[in-house]
Amino acid sequence: MSFPADFLWGAATSAFQIEGSLDVDGRGPSVWDAFAAQPGAVEGGGDASRACDSYRRWPEDIDLIADLGLGAYRFSVAWSRIVPEGRGRIEMRGLDHYERFVDTLLDRGIVPILTLNHWDMPQALMADGGWAGRASVDAFAEFTSAVADRLADRVPWWITQNEPWIIALLGYRLGLHAPGVRDLRASVAAGHHVLLAHGAGADILRSYPQVKVGPALNLLPCVPATPDDADAAAAWASDGYCNRWFLDPLFGRGYPDDMREHYERALGAPLDMIRPGDEDAIADRLDFLGVNYYTRRVMAAAEPEGPQQPFPWRVVGPAGDVPRTDDGNEIAPAAFRDLLIRLHREYDGIPVIVTENGGVFGDTPTHDGRIHDVRRVALLRDHVTAMGEAMAAGADVRGYMHWSLLDNFEWALGYRPRFGLVHVDYTTGTRTVKDSGRFYAEIARTGTVPPDPAPITPFG
Ligand code: FCB
Repeated sequence: MSFPADFLWGAATSAFQIEGSLDVDGRGPSVWDAFAAQPGAVEGGGDASRACDSYRRWPEDIDLIADLGLGAYRFSVAWSRIVPEGRGRIEMRGLDHYERFVDTLLDRGIVPILTLNHWDMPQALMADGGWAGRASVDAFAEFTSAVADRLADRVPWWITQNEPWIIALLGYRLGLHAPGVRDLRASVAAGHHVLLAHGAGADILRSYPQVKVGPALNLLPCVPATPDDADAAAAWASDGYCNRWFLDPLFGRGYPDDMREHYERALGAPLDMIRPGDEDAIADRLDFLGVNYYTRRVMAAAEPEGPQQPFPWRVVGPAGDVPRTDDGNEIAPAAFRDLLIRLHREYDGIPVIVTENGGVFGDTPTHDGRIHDVRRVALLRDHVTAMGEAMAAGADVRGYMHWSLLDNFEWALGYRPRFGLVHVDYTTGTRTVKDSGRFYAEIARTGTVPPDPAPITPFG
């Protein structure tokens, strides 16, 4: 199996998870600063005030990317470094920082893939409800214009929004992520405004001819736990919740009726936050689709049970002993292949960049000072192979960004889950390339999946 010569091999991070320096260069507070400061919100009590110290150590990060021979890097611009008060004043020191960063990537021959909203909305926007309020759309457009003015002449790939479903679900329905809201109605509104903001941002970005724009969706193949019709229906319905609710309007089909009915039933009210004309303003504004893939959902039928379980489906997980990452996710590369093929067939042959894929493996330096993360090597091998199979079946995949370049601040889980190709010692900031980083460098260098460097133990 060999990948096209211009295939983009890269790695991904986001600003809040790696930068630290939260009070430097005029940055304003973001919703994640406020959330992480609440006792108990982040496992282990950690915050992101230092994280990987990448706001200061960025030249070292770029050296790492170059040393690994990666041709692309997906990073995000911290919204509250650019518009510290959420509206109005633009902070030039923030723009200067990202301009230096992008120019250095370009000097090193690394293609920048820039994410605008990777969850760190300025806290000031909570006065209007954050994403649950419609004013968020104009605020996002201001942010987009400011960054585009400075960087759209040289950054080719732009991601407007990262994982709308996770923002709606964890941020506004379950309250497990910033801003910690627990309200189904607010959650539907937030998801809708995130999509509307994608549309508004894409309209701005598409006035720059060389720019390609898309959202990054975390897509979760939903499969029935048993051959029962009821479980098949539950899997399809849950696909409406996580996947089609976002894909369909983005591709000009409007919100899917089946899921709209589930929401209206659960809320006992029409979805009047979706106003006439909104679906048109979301539709057909993507040059590519960013796909974040981690695992699949194994589903069974269930009775709705009030606010905790408002829908007639339930995640039951796979039966029996399956390979899992250290955070319990089933490792399911075949579902990744099938997802990429499905997107190609059902969504107009859309070009895809895999904007995230990876797994938690807790390996740390061992007797020889190295990190032998053999299970991440296996995960990489199996997912890159699955992607190659999807491409052989026609899927138009242009790039693969492993999550993550570095171990980093994993939101409400703090520093425990390690996702990096590169290990970070959080007390010293020292970066050490793991075995998986070397293995990935070989993939990037050769455009093929090399023979395994070490025996692989798939079961952790
Ligand atoms: C995704 C997020 C990313 C990171 C990975 C593990 O949901 O986009 O920031 O947390 O999961």
